[in-house]
Amino acid sequence: MLSRTIIRSPGRTFSTSTAMLNRCIIYTQNGDPAQVIRAITYPKLPSPPPNTVNLKFLLSPINPADVNTIEGVYPSKPSPTSNIAASGLGSQDKPVFVGGNEGLAQVVEVGEGVKGLKKDDWVVMDRPQLGTWSTSRNVPFHGVIKLPATGLTEAHGATMTVNPTTAYNMLDGFVKLQEGDWVIQNGANSAVGQLVIQIAKNRGLSTINFVRSRDDMGPLVDHLKSLGATKILTYDDLNDKSLRGKIKEWTGGKDIRLALNCVGGEPTTAISKLLGQDAHLVSYGAMSKKPLSLPTSLHIFKNLTSHGFWQTNWSKTHSRTQKEELIAKLADMMKENKIRAPEHTIVNISAQESDEEATAKIRDVFAKLAEGKFGKKVLLKLEDTAT
Ligand SMILES: NC(=O)c1ccc[n+]([C@@H]2O[C@H](COP(=O)([O-])OP(=O)(O)OC[C@H]3O[C@@H](n4cnc5c(N)ncnc54)[C@H](OP(=O)(O)O)[C@@H]3O)[C@@H](O)[C@H]2O)c1
Repeated sequence: MLSRTIIRSPGRTFSTSTAMLNRCIIYTQNGDPAQVIRAITYPKLPSPPPNTVNLKFLLSPINPADVNTIEGVYPSKPSPTSNIAASGLGSQDKPVFVGGNEGLAQVVEVGEGVKGLKKDDWVVMDRPQLGTWSTSRNVPFHGVIKLPATGLTEAHGATMTVNPTTAYNMLDGFVKLQEGDWVIQNGANSAVGQLVIQIAKNRGLSTINFVRSRDDMGPLVDHLKSLGATKILTYDDLNDKSLRGKIKEWTGGKDIRLALNCVGGEPTTAISKLLGQDAHLVSYGAMSKKPLSLPTSLHIFKNLTSHGFWQTNWSKTHSRTQKEELIAKLADMMKENKIRAPEHTIVNISAQESDEEATAKIRDVFAKLAEGKFGKKVLLKLEDTAT
């Protein structure tokens, strides 16, 4: 491990030379993240036991599902027991949960019996809710997947396992799409939506992309176009009676057979009506918090099928080899610049900040996220070295 002489003071751990601080973002009860999470410093982890690797986290995103997990309304929950075991925190009576589901980490040390991983390898998580908002963790080696040694940025790696996999699998798993086919989606400027645009473009598919209108649409339209979006419209355009005719012209009369739903509510009902015969509507998000309502006639006369997609479930039902193959494919696309890292803001929590300062900073991030003030993916960097 990296640590040398460590001097501890309440909420702060540092040394005179290269010091190492272990810190994570925790919660002990569900609720509004801006109120219930806090940063804590924890003792140096023991060397990794057999079949376990010691990881240093480099960068970990805050995804919408992380907020739902802390609120206690997300189906995939962190296990208090594993977090306790990994970090030496809490007890059965007073469980402590470490936040963060996705993240990029570097292998620091491997335990006996670990296969296929060595010091300095970059890895991503293959198990949900491992507590990635940490400086370091000991994790079973089967719980991580190795990334290629070169060609990826930290932001690519940190955001690899949730959104790119979801976009890829939704384009791949429901309709046999051929080059020249069209896909329609709402929430097109979400991180997932932007990946759908890029992966579709890479496969020779065209996309019709709906977003919420805003005062100045120009920058967003330019950005989505630069990713490869074919058409960009707002939900207001769904009220335009001439839209159906325009779409027919764009597609040359070809039926659209796949719609991807990020937001639910009225924009989803409306895009479903633009689908052709035997189409599939795939819902993966509910950002508007409005229910999904579909005309019965679409099922009877057009044989519409409505599905939900959850990447966590895909992961549970696919083999390790299939998951490694998917990560390798996505990493190749990233290396070839066919998939850009999401636009992001890195929130740095320096090792010099006390736990109180770090808590105030991270709570403020969640308060701003709730108000939609970032407009970019937030990536957390918890520094482990005081300089
Ligand atoms: N099922 C799965 O496996 C899976 C995997 C990954 C993500 N997801 C889900 O997919 C969704 C998007 O995730 P992300 O990481 O891509 O999110 P993101 O980058 O934060 O984007 C959020 C999107 O939601 C839109 N939005 C926010 N509030 C809205 C509202 N009240 N009405 C309509 N649109 C609204 C935003 O539009 P504006 O820019 O106009 O605010 C933006 O397009 C989340 O629900 C997430 O949990 C699901």
